[in-house]
Amino acid sequence: MTLSNFLTDLDLNMEALLKILDYSSDEIFVLNKDKKIIYVNDACKKHYGLNKEDVIGKASMELADKGYWYPSIFPDVLERKEPITIKQTTILGAELLTSVVPILNDQKEVELIVTTARELQSYKMLKVNENDSKNSKEAEDPFGSSIITNNEKVKNVLKFAKKVAAANSTILILGESGTGKSLLAQYIHENGNRRTGPFLTINCAAIPAELMESELFGYTPGSFTNANRSGKKGILECANGGTVFLDEIGDMPLPLQAKILQVIQEKKFIPIGGNKEKSVDIRIIAATNKDLNKMVKSKMFREDLYYRLNVVDINMPPLRERQEDIVPLIYNFLYKFNRNHEMNKLISKDCLECLTHYLWPGNIRQLENLIEKLVIVSNDVISIDDLPEGIYYQGLAQIENTTPATLNEAVELAKKEMIRKSYKVNKSSRRVAKDLQISQTYAARLIREYCQDWSED
Ligand SMILES: Nc1ncnc2c1ncn2[C@@H]1O[C@H](COP(=O)(O)OP(=O)(O)O)[C@@H](O)[C@H]1O
Ligand SMILES: [Mg+2]
Repeated sequence: MTLSNFLTDLDLNMEALLKILDYSSDEIFVLNKDKKIIYVNDACKKHYGLNKEDVIGKASMELADKGYWYPSIFPDVLERKEPITIKQTTILGAELLTSVVPILNDQKEVELIVTTARELQSYKMLKVNENDSKNSKEAEDPFGSSIITNNEKVKNVLKFAKKVAAANSTILILGESGTGKSLLAQYIHENGNRRTGPFLTINCAAIPAELMESELFGYTPGSFTNANRSGKKGILECANGGTVFLDEIGDMPLPLQAKILQVIQEKKFIPIGGNKEKSVDIRIIAATNKDLNKMVKSKMFREDLYYRLNVVDINMPPLRERQEDIVPLIYNFLYKFNRNHEMNKLISKDCLECLTHYLWPGNIRQLENLIEKLVIVSNDVISIDDLPEGIYYQGLAQIENTTPATLNEAVELAKKEMIRKSYKVNKSSRRVAKDLQISQTYAARLIREYCQDWSED
């Protein structure tokens, strides 16, 4: 199909116009005078991880308050009744150059507010903004350790975590590797009243058992050969007033489990080689991807410690059970690695679709690592062909397996299949129309919609 017949067929009606706006890589965002969002184009998906349907009708303040963008400018524009352009950061880490234009009526009252927002990264590629130093970015990024989610289960996890963060209870975080357990532990610390105190992690799977004890408890001067002459403070002591995160606690050796249980219960311990008890004021958060219950049964984990830890437990669901998080996470990592590697890679729609359906055994860590690799190795647009074979085939197979959830989806799917089949054989909208007994204009429209990828034929 050529561009000219695309345009003649188009007779710019409302539907066509809205479609065109969705092709804009810049975001277009319109508020009415009550600051309700009355229009936004598809770019809101890559900037905020939100579908337009979830945005339109909302009060803009509600989204700004939830941190979807920062800083907020609408109040300023309403007051000054003049256009403003500023730099904003979104919840996914996109840096936008946002221009807000108030549209006034004859009485000089604001009728509409029209916003366009473009990713700053693309300006940087044009070498504008060169002195806007990279170093200041970390410091001013208000979303540094935020947990991205659109999933109800995870939202509930965060709500619950916030609640228990305020209490000083010991917490056990369970979930597969890479689901965000460590991130959640930090979130709990930052939302509790110890947030100004230290947050220290010991990863029980990464440290040899012999070292783990001295790392945790520290030792007194001369307590063993090769030991530092003046002794060494352990993590438990250094974390005084803060939080100790025992990561992968399922890998902690049994003798240490007994000692840790004592620390949890009494908030006291004796350093290696010492004879005086030390008291500490710490909160303990533990995490594991192991089935501790099973380990207790096979005597690999102490039952008493398990019950002590298990008082408050939180489950992080695997990524495959939170499909709505995949696209926002992809864009978040894309922004991050584009920035780190000074690239400006985009990602194609079918690639996003395939990644959304892949089952992610390594969860968010696997997704993060993949996006970093793709940013480095792919061409300007990350395409479905850049994906590793395993992901490509499983993703596509999962898409084939999805049964439509609604009647509309089923009808859509059937329409698409019939049009593609017919167009493949008939190769013209006139013959497709005849074949499927529909009008030629309708056939042409459906062909445009469903057979885009063949339009060069
Ligand atoms: N919801 C999330 N939003 C953004 N990044 C996330 C999210 N969950 C996990 N990550 C990132 O994914 C990686 C793996 O998370 P991590 O907390 O280390 O998982 P786990 O401890 O369960 O193995 C980390 O780099 C983390 O920052
Ligand atoms: Mg971890």
